[in-house]
Amino acid sequence: TIQVMSSKRLIIALDFKNIAEMSYFISNLDPKKCIVKVGLQLFIAEGPKVLDFLSQRDFEIFLDLKLHDIPNTVKKSVEEISQYNVKLTTIHLQGGQDMIQAANEAKGSTKILGVSLLTSLDESDIRKLYNNDFKKQFNNLINIAMETNIDGIVCSSQELELIQDPSLIKVVPGIRNQNSSDDQKRVMTSKEAYSKGADFIVVGRPITQAKDIEESIKDYS
Ligand code: C5P
Repeated sequence: TIQVMSSKRLIIALDFKNIAEMSYFISNLDPKKCIVKVGLQLFIAEGPKVLDFLSQRDFEIFLDLKLHDIPNTVKKSVEEISQYNVKLTTIHLQGGQDMIQAANEAKGSTKILGVSLLTSLDESDIRKLYNNDFKKQFNNLINIAMETNIDGIVCSSQELELIQDPSLIKVVPGIRNQNSSDDQKRVMTSKEAYSKGADFIVVGRPITQAKDIEESIKDYS
């Protein structure tokens, strides 16, 4: 984990609908203090120019597209991603070992994170999908990850302690330092997540919707 780029450990999710809204928000951000995450919505709306826009402003980028396809398609897609200044990107561990290896071969200096089980799935979804319990299914995926050279994984704070491998970068969304009534269910504070081994946390709305953005960044750093 030590080889991870810098001392920054806060990733801010730029869940905006276009570059105009995003650029207004990022004028509040110091690229030395956070990494920024571009997700599907913004990437579909604006395409790769959003990556150039951010990297010209010295931001380190996490491109979160959660790729899941046959190995060849994922390999070609990761090859394209690695042409941009993208530090971290995501694939689904469910794609299996060959898909993960294919992503690894194409990654260049971009680090690959495997998404384990989406935090939107609960115990009963996992039962229906895999006829298995959540923990076992999670462990199957982590075992697959560990048999490859994948750089890290994305998981909820509750699953951090199920991951034994210290060399995997652990990236954790679902962080709330204040009570909120949004859609995140399995939440934890930033302090708890860091202390349970998160190398990076991903925070969206608590920072993007904050009254005092600078204060909220301090709070989650
Ligand atoms: O606003 P909020 O802090 O909930 O944003 C969290 C970000 O992390 C969103 O961009 C969301 O898509 C992402 N994410 C998540 N849970 C996952 C994977 C990604 O919340 N399992």
